[in-house]
Amino acid sequence: METSRTVIIGELRRGPSASWEEIGAACGMTRQGATRRWSRLVHASSFGAAADSYQRGRPEYPPSVVEWLVPRRAKSVLDLGAGTGKLTRPLVQAGLKVTAVEPSQGMREQLAAAVAGAAVLAGTAERIPLPDASVDAVVVAHAWHWFDPALAVPEVARVLVPGGTLSLVWNDRDETEPWMAALGAIMHRQAAQVIDTSPPLGPSFGPPERMELRWQQLVTRQEILDMVASRSYVISMPAPERDALLGEVAELLGEHPDLSGREEIAMPYIARCTRVRLADPGAL
Ligand SMILES: C[S@@+](CC[C@H](N)C(=O)[O-])C[C@H]1O[C@@H](n2cnc3c(N)ncnc32)[C@H](O)[C@@H]1O
Repeated sequence: METSRTVIIGELRRGPSASWEEIGAACGMTRQGATRRWSRLVHASSFGAAADSYQRGRPEYPPSVVEWLVPRRAKSVLDLGAGTGKLTRPLVQAGLKVTAVEPSQGMREQLAAAVAGAAVLAGTAERIPLPDASVDAVVVAHAWHWFDPALAVPEVARVLVPGGTLSLVWNDRDETEPWMAALGAIMHRQAAQVIDTSPPLGPSFGPPERMELRWQQLVTRQEILDMVASRSYVISMPAPERDALLGEVAELLGEHPDLSGREEIAMPYIARCTRVRLADPGAL
C-alpha cells in the first residue's frame, strides 16, 4: 500500500490537472501527507546529480563512532543508504564483510571508485536486496530521515539475524561557533530541515542506546562550498538561486574574522548516534 501510494502520487503529478487535495484523496491521504511524501521522494532522489561535490564536501565518521556503531562480535554489516561510501570505507578497513546498498547510480559510481572491498548493490531501505537473516548489523549514516519508516523498519528487521543491531548516525554541524552559526543562518534561510535524530524504531527492537561525540574535520574553503552544494535542497534549486547562495557562503568564508588567513578550517560536528538490538527469540 505504501509503495503503491507513491506510484499513484507520481502518476497524478505527471498528469495535467490534479490538485493536491485530489491526489491525497486518490491514495487515502491528507493533502499534507501527500505533499510531504512527494517532497521526500524528490529530495531523496536528488543526490546523484551532485555526487562528486558530495564525495569532496561531506564529512567522514571518526573511528570511535564507527566502533560504537558496530558491535564487536559482528562480522557482516549492511551500510544502508551508503551514498559515496563515507562510512563504507572505515567499515571495510575494520575487516568487516560489507554490503553497501544505495539507490542513486551516481552515488554508487563514486562509492565503487572510492572504496574497494565492499559489495555494492542498487536498492532502497524499503526494499533491501538481501535475503532474510543475512547480516549481523545494519548501519545508516545520515540517511534514515529519507526512508519511509513504515517499510524500512520491517525490512531492516527482516535482513538482520536474531539479536542483530540497527545503528543510526547523523553528523550535525555544531553551530555553537560564531562562523558556523553564520553559515547555518545562510543555509537555513533557504530551507531549515528538521531531522529527528532519535526516531521511533518500533517494538521489534529493544530500547535505544544513544551516544554523542563532538569532533572536528579539517577542510578547505572549497570543501565547505562542496558540502553546501551537496545538500539536497541546494541541488534541487534553480541555478541562479543556487549560485547566489554559494556566492554568499564564499563571501562569508572569505571575510569572517575567525577564518582569516587560514588555509584549512576546523569544521565542528556533533555525531549523534542511536543503536537498537533486534529481539532474539532463541535467547528467551
Ligand atoms: C545524506 S546521504 C548519506 C550518504 C552516506 N551514508 C554518508 O553518510 O555520507 C543520504 C543517502 O541516502 C540515499 N537514499 C535516499 N533515499 C533512500 C532510500 N529510500 N533507501 C536507501 N537510500 C536512500 C541517498 O541516495 C543518499 O545517498
